[in-house]
Amino acid sequence: MDLNVPKHIAIIMDGNGRWAQEKGKSRFYGHYAGAEVVEPITLKAKELGVSYLTLFAFSTENWKRPREEIDVLFKLFKEYLIRKEESILKNGIKMKFIGRKDRIPKDLLQYMEDIEQKTRKNSSIILTLAVDYGGLDDITRAFNKLLKEKNEVTQEDIKKALDTCFLPAVDLLIRTGNEKRISNFLLWDLAYAELFFCEKYWPDFTPEDLCMIVEDFSKRKRRFGAVQPVDMI
Ligand code: FPP
Repeated sequence: MDLNVPKHIAIIMDGNGRWAQEKGKSRFYGHYAGAEVVEPITLKAKELGVSYLTLFAFSTENWKRPREEIDVLFKLFKEYLIRKEESILKNGIKMKFIGRKDRIPKDLLQYMEDIEQKTRKNSSIILTLAVDYGGLDDITRAFNKLLKEKNEVTQEDIKKALDTCFLPAVDLLIRTGNEKRISNFLLWDLAYAELFFCEKYWPDFTPEDLCMIVEDFSKRKRRFGAVQPVDMI
């Protein structure tokens, strides 16, 4: 049977802290272990034929964490971009970032812009990291942009004003870490996404898990409000 592969997968990479704490280690150790999972999952998604992979790295609510943990996460993101640049380029990955740009450290922002620029012509898979991203914040910023231009807006106008304007609707949302919620991720774009909640913590998530979830997705009947299944992909 041919696999019906989702065009756009979004992942909430949850459970780093619990994974580490259950091993008697600091939460930071869990974040470092979690970062190591990003590359194999991206490469497997690419191999499966997924066009867009969007990962929730830091939410607008994550500012409520202790300052030390926030600093570790931003340092980790920066180090990751430096360390993985060669592999990202070699694998033809196009990197994009969504989220607010006014609160994250300037040095990290510079690396984000550099890698977006260096990979802009790549197309094997579009890997988007959501950093200081919140669905409510994205929609609110979009409305404030639109208020300056229009009295009345269409769904298309709103989509074009979002950070996610270059992304198609999410087909499949995966959340690891055994929590069943959306946590203010891509609210507009998740309207008709299929949801998959995985018990494993993110550092334990494997390319085989991704394949198994895509197989499950492939068997689902998506109706988009219609009576008959609609083949939207
Ligand atoms: C959720 O685990 C994870 C985060 C808030 C940070 C996500 C970051 C990573 C997975 C590292 C990714 C790295 C790159 C380079 C993109 P949690 O801390 O909420 O875990 P918990 O629910 O067990 O406390």
